[in-house]
Formats: sequence, structure tokens, C-alpha cells
Amino acid sequence: MNEVKIFSPATVANVTCGYDVLGFCLDNVGDEMIVRKTAKKGIHITKIEGYDLPFEADKNVAGVSALALLNHANLDYGFEIEIYKHIKPGSGIGSSSASAAGSVFAINELLGRPYSKTQLTEFAMKGEALASGSEHADNIAPALFGGFTLVKSIAPLTVLEIPSPADLYATVIHPQIEIKTAEARAILPKEIPLKIAITQWANVGSLVHALHTNDYNLIQSSLKDIIIEPFRSKLIPQFENVKLAALNSGALGCGISGSGPSIFALSKGKDMALKVENAMELVYRNTEVAFNTYVSKINLEGIRILS
Ligand code: HSE
Repeated sequence: MNEVKIFSPATVANVTCGYDVLGFCLDNVGDEMIVRKTAKKGIHITKIEGYDLPFEADKNVAGVSALALLNHANLDYGFEIEIYKHIKPGSGIGSSSASAAGSVFAINELLGRPYSKTQLTEFAMKGEALASGSEHADNIAPALFGGFTLVKSIAPLTVLEIPSPADLYATVIHPQIEIKTAEARAILPKEIPLKIAITQWANVGSLVHALHTNDYNLIQSSLKDIIIEPFRSKLIPQFENVKLAALNSGALGCGISGSGPSIFALSKGKDMALKVENAMELVYRNTEVAFNTYVSKINLEGIRILS
């Protein structure tokens, strides 16, 4: 195989209570990439459609993660990358991770899969670090592993795969404003009171338990964020109204997707997720803010080969 075309999905990081550790993979929104072997050594980005991003491999997240893999593999040939970007950068649904994870996934396929998903996550974290200024894997891991993931530690990198209840659906509303992850991280407190930490880690633990036991009521009571949301929600127009509308229409929970501005909700069943989409949309229709919405089941596969 000399060429592979892949779909690299969007992801929701943090999942309300699990800042920097929890994430899940979306199904029907993502980028496409074509990667092919070339006699010329190195990484060459030959095409980018959709958004204006750098072509220099060492300035592009897909390029940086591919270079990290190449440094490890020590090959006497190289790769060309075409990026068809559908996820807007700065959207909060893992735009940079889709690129960073996509390039290393595709190269691994062309090499005959010498690397594990954990090793690919490590390479992709180098690309993510270029975009956000810090190495975190809570978008990359669900893109590569699929489903829900928990990044237990970064060094050594330990990713846990968490089961997803069959009827769980995500609704995402993406206001068309850009929030830079690095800036959304800079406004967060460096320390938090112990009492707040206790509440938050109890919710992370109970959410993971609820996902294992298909306990929708426990999912509902665990989807709370008392650490990050109070700071970041101020950056997102109408956040409180969207959240209220989603919860009032039957969502199990609603919060900021990654570092925002996207807002996600989780619901039991597709019909409920569509009802929640409608309720979220109604809030933004009364404003000047342009937006997109998505309803998606949890993508258990992660990045997939198209051809
Ligand atoms: N955990 C990250 C954050 C996800 O919230 O900053 C965004 O890349």
C-alpha cells in the first residue's frame, strides 16, 4: 500500500468533569486526509483545503506529529500529506487533534502498523503541543482509540478505554467564534480548594462507573464541572442559556466541549439528542452569532480508512 485516505473525527474533550483526562469521539464530523509514500525523505504537506494553515511541516500540527513518528522510524523514504479540513480550528471539537492523530494513523497504516495506538498518541501529542502550548491527549486518545477514553497519565502515557452505553448520543453546537486553547488554559486557576477538588473527582469517578454500568441516571448526576466551567463559560456567548435549554429539554448533561466555544450535551437516544439540538439552536437563532450543530452517536472506531 502506497497511499491511504482516512476520515479523522472530531472529539469532545474534558466531558464536563474530566479536564485534560476524559474525552469521546464523534461520528459524523471530521477531516479527511490522504497520505502517500514518496521517494523524497521527510514530510511534505502538498495540499490543504478548508482553512488557511501552514504548509511547512514543522509549523503544521499534522506535520509535527508525522515528523515525531519519522524521527523514531528512521526511514529512507518520506510521506506526502493532503489535508481536507472540515473542523474549524479553535472550535473546541478537536480540530488540531484530528490533524495530529490523522497523519500518524495514516503513516502507521502505510508502514504495516508497527506502532500501537498508545505510541501514535505520543507522536500526535507533539502536534497538539504546537497548537495549544501544552501536551495533553484528551482529544487525541479518543480520535485514535474511539469511544470514551481516560488519559490516566501523560508520562508514562497510559490511556484507558471506557465502554460507551449503546443509547448515548451527543449534540454539539458550534458558535462560529474562535477560542484559542492556549488562551482558554491561561485563564484557569493554578490552585483550587480541596473541597472543590473532592466534589470534582467524585464526579469523574462516578461518570466512569456510570459508563461501565450503563447507568444513565448516574451519568446525569455526574456531568458537572465546578472547576473549569465557571471561568471558561464567560468566553462563550449564551452559554448558560444553551445549557439551561438543553437540560430543560431532557439532556443528561451539558457543558463546554474541550476549551470551547462548542457546547456539547449527552442524551439517552437519538430522538432526545435531536430535541436537545433544536432547543440549543433556538437560543442562538435569537442572536447574531452564526453556528453549526451536530448530532452524533459515540464513534467507537475512531479514525477510519476510507480507501
Ligand atoms: N483539555 C483541553 C482543554 C482540551 O480543555 O484545554 C482542549 O484541547
